[in-house]
Amino acid sequence: MTATLIDGLALSKKLRADVATRAAALTARGHQPGLAVVLVGDNPASEVYVRNKIKACEDNDLHSSYDRYPAELSEADLLKRIDELNNDPKINGILVQLPLPKHIDSHKVIEAIAPEKDVDGFHVANAGALMTGQALFRPCTPYGVMKMFEEYNIPLEGANAVVIGRSNIVGKPMALLLLEKGATVTICHSKTRDLAKHTLDADIVVAAVGKRNVLTADMIKPGATVIDVGMNRDDNGKLCGDVDFAGLKDKAGFITPVPGGVGPMTITMLLVNTIEAAERAAGV
Ligand code: GUN
Repeated sequence: MTATLIDGLALSKKLRADVATRAAALTARGHQPGLAVVLVGDNPASEVYVRNKIKACEDNDLHSSYDRYPAELSEADLLKRIDELNNDPKINGILVQLPLPKHIDSHKVIEAIAPEKDVDGFHVANAGALMTGQALFRPCTPYGVMKMFEEYNIPLEGANAVVIGRSNIVGKPMALLLLEKGATVTICHSKTRDLAKHTLDADIVVAAVGKRNVLTADMIKPGATVIDVGMNRDDNGKLCGDVDFAGLKDKAGFITPVPGGVGPMTITMLLVNTIEAAERAAGV
């Protein structure tokens, strides 16, 4: 192994210590930060994510509420609940776990969340603010990846960065955050004609497609930084990412493992965003 492993667990621990300190300071002033988590349906992966988010709140002195609804919940009832949470002073952040059941319009639901409580950063007001360089909340996964670059002193200015994936949750905001730091950014996706042509020229590759082995050792230049946002299962049911870690670890300069890389950072940045929302609400 020649690549330096980017340790998302260690960095999360460090950042969560700061979250806990800020949460305690707010609580002492009578403003305990609060996160509302809403899950509709019984997607097993979503259940695990949501459980981990609530546990992270409990471990770091944040108040949390958890609404769990059957898949049949109507869109109108969900919107009504969001309105209540928008008006609840104990709640600073609202997270509606995606995906939602097909009969519910997720765009409509996201737009119903008050932008100042949209700790996912998915509301069009927040997406627009990010795009114009005035971000209120940065979406948690790409925000966590940016913290990793910072922690490991990985230069972004002038770097060639390739983001594989164009989702609203990861790919698009990741590209904007890299651009903000002066990287030359290329977004590749399922319709890209020759992925390797782009990745071979990249100093940084962020893979966020949800498919195994999209990036292999022959597709990167030696010393490149590889960030793996994927969460998949291999043929033996073992958790794995989007990149061929075994092949890449001898050629990359820096690489994130799965598990223990980006995953813990996503939840950590959710806590950070919730603290920032609570501090703003409290006038800190
Ligand atoms: N589903 C997968 N990732 C996320 C996320 O970051 N936030 C929400 N709300 N749902 C998700």
